[in-house]
Amino acid sequence: MASTQALGPGGHPLGRMSTTRQDLWWIGPASVVFGLSCFFIYATWAAFQGAHFYAAPYLSPFYAPVIFHDPSAVGGTTHSLLGAFPSWWPGFLPQSPAFLILAFPGAFRFTCYYYRKAYYRGFAGSPPGCSVAPLPKRGYEGETGLFLLQNLHRYALYFAMIFVFLLAYDVWLACWKDGVFGVGVGTFVLALNVVLLAGYTFGCHSVRHLVGGRTDCLTCGKNTVRFTLWKGVTILNEKHMVWAWCSLIWVGVSDIYVRLLSQNIIIEWNTWG
Ligand code: FES
Repeated sequence: MASTQALGPGGHPLGRMSTTRQDLWWIGPASVVFGLSCFFIYATWAAFQGAHFYAAPYLSPFYAPVIFHDPSAVGGTTHSLLGAFPSWWPGFLPQSPAFLILAFPGAFRFTCYYYRKAYYRGFAGSPPGCSVAPLPKRGYEGETGLFLLQNLHRYALYFAMIFVFLLAYDVWLACWKDGVFGVGVGTFVLALNVVLLAGYTFGCHSVRHLVGGRTDCLTCGKNTVRFTLWKGVTILNEKHMVWAWCSLIWVGVSDIYVRLLSQNIIIEWNTWG
């Protein structure tokens, strides 16, 4: 019997999330909604704690670098770049160093080309998947309205690259306890965090343009170094989604590890005894 379903451009069925696809296309956007929601809820909760983010010599990446510290924080640190929280700090906000940090990696991820595709599909249903009809628009203007700000991604990248080096320095600090060099499980947890963040950051589409853009011939003569860099970035870029998720999950795991250690809920193996 002939179908009476209305068809739109390209022969796609019209109507909210209509599709002729037979596969489990909705698993992708549903997983994105679940994964990003879990991370957002946990990161917000962890940021509001303002405590148990330091277990010598490990500092949670959610809180690094510590710009101001709260001397009374349990499981905090007494070392910070600018001393104790200033008097102008709003009284309604906990004195949590994370509030001064998370905006930078948050902006970088929010404006990431991969995450944009993922959450436009998952949260806005615009469209939910290839060959799937979109949800009603409700004033959504794509990246021509408010989301024009997404173009700031390349600037968020510069901050993200600085954070990779700052966190790498924290790994070095995580090798020293009371002046004694050593390693513990936490050292490897934080080191893996840096590796994953570096893979995600340096595989960014904007980095690919930074090292390989603005030239007519990348393979010509004096562009050898740039071409080599571009090929390296491209290798990372081809798995950008994988780096994005692995680094997101592991930065959360790193915070949980330090948090549990700080509260003596877990003990770890290390060379300090
Ligand atoms: Fe994903 Fe830049 S495109 S981090």
